[in-house]
Amino acid sequence: MARRTVVLMPGDGIGPKVLEQALRVLDAISFDADYVHADVGWACWVNEGDALPERTIHLLAEHKLGLFGAITSKPKVQAALELRPELKGQGLSYSSPIVRMRQLFDLDVCVRPCRSFPGNPLNFVRRAPGGGVEEPQVDVVIFRQNTEGLYAGVEWTDPPAEVRQSLALHPKFKPFAAVSGRDIALSVRVITRRACERIARAAFLHAERHGCRSVTVCEKPNVVRETSGLMEEAARQVAVECPGIELCSTNIDAQMMWLTKNPEECGVIVATNLFGDILSDAFAGLVGGLGFACSGNIGDQAAVFEPTHGSAPKYAALEPQIANPIAMILSASMLLDHVSEGEKAMRVRDAVARVVAEGKVRTYDMLRLPGGATAVAQGAASTEQMADAIIAAL
Ligand code: NAI
Ligand code: MG
Repeated sequence: MARRTVVLMPGDGIGPKVLEQALRVLDAISFDADYVHADVGWACWVNEGDALPERTIHLLAEHKLGLFGAITSKPKVQAALELRPELKGQGLSYSSPIVRMRQLFDLDVCVRPCRSFPGNPLNFVRRAPGGGVEEPQVDVVIFRQNTEGLYAGVEWTDPPAEVRQSLALHPKFKPFAAVSGRDIALSVRVITRRACERIARAAFLHAERHGCRSVTVCEKPNVVRETSGLMEEAARQVAVECPGIELCSTNIDAQMMWLTKNPEECGVIVATNLFGDILSDAFAGLVGGLGFACSGNIGDQAAVFEPTHGSAPKYAALEPQIANPIAMILSASMLLDHVSEGEKAMRVRDAVARVVAEGKVRTYDMLRLPGGATAVAQGAASTEQMADAIIAAL
């Protein structure tokens, strides 16, 4: 197997800490790769006025494979205030480096598996029909369109006259036409057939490969008729190509209600950007939350894997570190799958499963302790100890 180069983007806060542990796990299974460091995140914004510097974009363009820790981002006004004095007043405007990276490299397929590990004290439980509790096994993979929809960034506060004129062509804009200036804001939900077909195809392919009988498209076509309608239509089209797999359809609001009723009945779900984001956070909550939520951003040319959690700045300076590295480690296992190292990926997931099932080593979140300096003294494993345990279980 050819050696690969993985671009490491540690980012801010706990990002570098969890990434460091994921690399130890990759080394422990002898993943054959070179690594290059790439800057991204808040320090880049403050010092260079760009949270995703050109040199990082070049590295990703060259190597096409990345592991991302987490970044800190802040609202526009505060971001401008924290810029280095020499950069202030130059009209620089903060934008999320992750969203930009996804769009720049067309990482349009976001894959977010949410699987419960038996023995995880954070697993969802429900009341059993005859009393007592039952713990359904959740095994859902969410395919979220990653570059369009409400995250496309086509938005205005106080939209320009031309935009207002165009909107006036739509009869339903009438009640809003009189709202002036900064009292009106617009975010455009841009959806293309190509992107819908790509995300639906990725979901169906996954279902085919993993023996799932159905794919569920989760939208709101009865109300958001045009854009959700296009997603549904594209999913139906793709379903024709995969005759063995049934296409089901749910509405996002109803799906959120059913989530805790029968989560074990969900398998592969496909959705547009915002709905997919909401779905994947909700399902992640059933299987352990942010400490377990891994993801891949996959395009035709490049792929970047990252935990879905942020930089948890309040824990960044703790010594020892307390963040749960499992989300990052599972993200690294997704990278292994992506580069056809499925056997190694499986070994990593099995090792995580064993450590969770054994229950001897648990980070503060798994023990439901308050995060902070006292967590380790109260019995929580540190970030490093959790990685040690996973490495020992390999
Ligand atoms: P966050 O995900 O950083 O943290 C929320 C809370 O979840 C933390 O206080 C912590 O209690 C817990 N948590 C997060 N990761 C954990 C882990 N690995 N193990 C155990 N507990 C964990 O979200 P928050 O506080 O809303 O945002 C902090 C910063 O991160 C912000 O600047 C935000 O913009 C950014 N962010 C970045 C993301 C990314 O890099 N992909 C995603 C979400 C937020
Ligand atoms: Mg989210």
